Amino acid sequence: GKEGFDHYMMKEIFEQPKAIRDCLLRKVDEGFVSFGDQSFTKDEIENFDHIYMTACGTAFHASQVGKRALEDAMQKEITAEIASEFRYNMPFLNENSLLIVVSQSGETGDTLAVLREAKQRGAKVLAITNVLGSSIDRESDKVIYCDAGPEISVASTKAYSTQLLSLYLLTLDFGYKLGTYDEEAVKVAIEELSGVPEKIESILDHVDDLDPIAKRLASHPAIFYLGRGIDYLSAKEGALKLKEISYIHAQSMAAGELKHGSIALVEEGLPIVTIITQSLLVEKSISNIKEVKARGAYNIVITDDVSAHIDEVADDLIRIPAISDLYAPILAVLPQQILAYKVSVLLGNDVDKPRNLAKSVTVE
Ligand code: F6R
Repeated sequence: GKEGFDHYMMKEIFEQPKAIRDCLLRKVDEGFVSFGDQSFTKDEIENFDHIYMTACGTAFHASQVGKRALEDAMQKEITAEIASEFRYNMPFLNENSLLIVVSQSGETGDTLAVLREAKQRGAKVLAITNVLGSSIDRESDKVIYCDAGPEISVASTKAYSTQLLSLYLLTLDFGYKLGTYDEEAVKVAIEELSGVPEKIESILDHVDDLDPIAKRLASHPAIFYLGRGIDYLSAKEGALKLKEISYIHAQSMAAGELKHGSIALVEEGLPIVTIITQSLLVEKSISNIKEVKARGAYNIVITDDVSAHIDEVADDLIRIPAISDLYAPILAVLPQQILAYKVSVLLGNDVDKPRNLAKSVTVE
């Protein structure tokens, strides 16, 4: 049941602290990351020529963050591609490749098609999935479960945050085995990740503060989501969440791309949600906000940065607890999930079963 919540989506949003604790509990042993036999050895990792990642929708957004994390651990470039595109254009994936697939359901047709083609070519496949016994679980060489528990609402919430966490932990595992991170660095990272549930709880304690912002968003036909670097990836997930359950046109953009065309769409009152968590990019994002503000945009900023500048440019400021840049998406998504939910409710939509969508997309 919905356990007192009006919709599964809100129940699942509130389950995120527990989902993350469960996910950590099963993958962390005595303060250190441990996947048992579900990861690769140092030799195997070193011998992969190239790592590819593939997924669809929200799982792809998690993969893109995972790509950034893994690139730091591997100190080399990794390819992340949408499964529906990748399945028809993966000329270089071969028997020396590692393919990482991310899928809540473990049944997504396009993701499964890439997995099968990769296996055919002799590549190794590691899956990050939430569903034990799913096709992707059964057909992969190694599997890391998200441990989010069943996700019923079509809009993915706790699956996304546990996909992120699983990818962060995989990154620590690879990075430690390769010597990029020493034992101390891994322990410090795990300690920070262990603090995430509490930080999420502190955001969930204030969901009603978002009501006026939700009301504003619900009355506009179009909304922009901006960010730079990893914040752009968070913005993509926020925009997808809003579109799928509110049916409002939400457009995510790398903030620096605005002036190459899309800024022409900015007019009086257009709501723009900007994510600002990446320390080196704070000032750049503030400049973008000033540009759209001058053209009449209404600026909603989600940030863990405490600089006074942001106060000055934001019409609405949504503060999230401070966290390392790489881990910020796991918190930045929360207000975005809640806003999408509230807008959908305000508009009288079927939140858990939005039109035209299915929970598991097994067909092309
Ligand atoms: C969005 C959403 C979809 C899924 C996508 C992949 O909220 O749920 O974008 O993320 O269809 O599904 P899985 O993860 O089951 O492969």
